[in-house]
Amino acid sequence: MDDIQKVQEGVFLNKKVLVRADFNVAIVNGKVKEKFKLEACKKTVDFLSAQDGAKIALISHLGRPEGKVLKEFSLEQLKGELETILGRKIVFVADCIGGEVKKALAALNSGEILLLENVRFHEGDEKNDSEFSAKLAENFDVFVNDAFSVCHRNQASVTGVAKCINGFAGLWLQEELKNLNCVIHEPEYPATAIIGGAKIETKLPLIQRFEKMYTNILVGGRVANEAIDQKTVLSPKVILPFDFADDRLDIGEKTILRFKEIIANSKVIIWNGPMGKFEQPPYDRGTREILDAIIESDAFTLIGGGESVQVLEERGLMDKISFVSTGGGAMLEYLSGNVMPGIEALRVKEKK
Ligand code: 3PG
Repeated sequence: MDDIQKVQEGVFLNKKVLVRADFNVAIVNGKVKEKFKLEACKKTVDFLSAQDGAKIALISHLGRPEGKVLKEFSLEQLKGELETILGRKIVFVADCIGGEVKKALAALNSGEILLLENVRFHEGDEKNDSEFSAKLAENFDVFVNDAFSVCHRNQASVTGVAKCINGFAGLWLQEELKNLNCVIHEPEYPATAIIGGAKIETKLPLIQRFEKMYTNILVGGRVANEAIDQKTVLSPKVILPFDFADDRLDIGEKTILRFKEIIANSKVIIWNGPMGKFEQPPYDRGTREILDAIIESDAFTLIGGGESVQVLEERGLMDKISFVSTGGGAMLEYLSGNVMPGIEALRVKEKK
């Protein structure tokens, strides 16, 4: 992390700053879920706003509109919520490139910030098209990436733009790296990883890496069923469920008890992915009980992944966890030891 450019090292006086945030949140009946993803960029916005004359524009994707302009994925829906969270007037711009952005930057008053329209309304973003990256960059002097949760994506608004203008890591991104590095490189023992959710093929690299580093790996959710069905060979440190609720839609009572004992004796706990089909009671029991045990433990606790965080938010338990990561896929990739293009892009010091 020492060799990435940090926002504290930049000079932003009178600079036009493009800040990549991750506002990819669920919106149910007009209500924003995962608000903490919106809150994540606040420190960086405050930091940049304190620099005289700095003009800030927030850019993000929402959903997967695949290059189409779709109202249900418009970032305008988040304007009110962001104004409340960031405590500033937000001016929404109906595109993220071109003359409209230029005009809005010129007209921006002190204390206001711009919110640009969904970057994935242009297919150049996901394709990491270099012309599109240049268009994103042309209205700005500097790029700040504050979206750890998109750093596993090699996309124009994450990596491409940092090839055109100087790129810095925002304060939230740094916070994510600090906490994740701490649980990877210097965990206190016994250390326990709890891995659930779907798809053994995406979770297996993580399980295998933690087999080498951690004391216990507790596996639940569909990933456990798949490991059992496919007779995946795992080390004795990996504990799969030994009983289940009906139809294997949740872990069973004896497994919950065993997992709770291990959790209570751990000094570090990482959790990614639910233990069962938690959105459909009564199959939420395993997930709820494991979460309660994590909260009651004295361990350093780190949780990530959209579904796990949703459970935390719904139950008002966000502040009971030592660190909640915004990263779902990104957290998995980082913990699995994979290269993160968004972070690599910030290592490059010399820019054109
Ligand atoms: C996330 O919500 O995990 C990130 O915003 C990445 O979204 P994506 O999987 O659509 O790229």
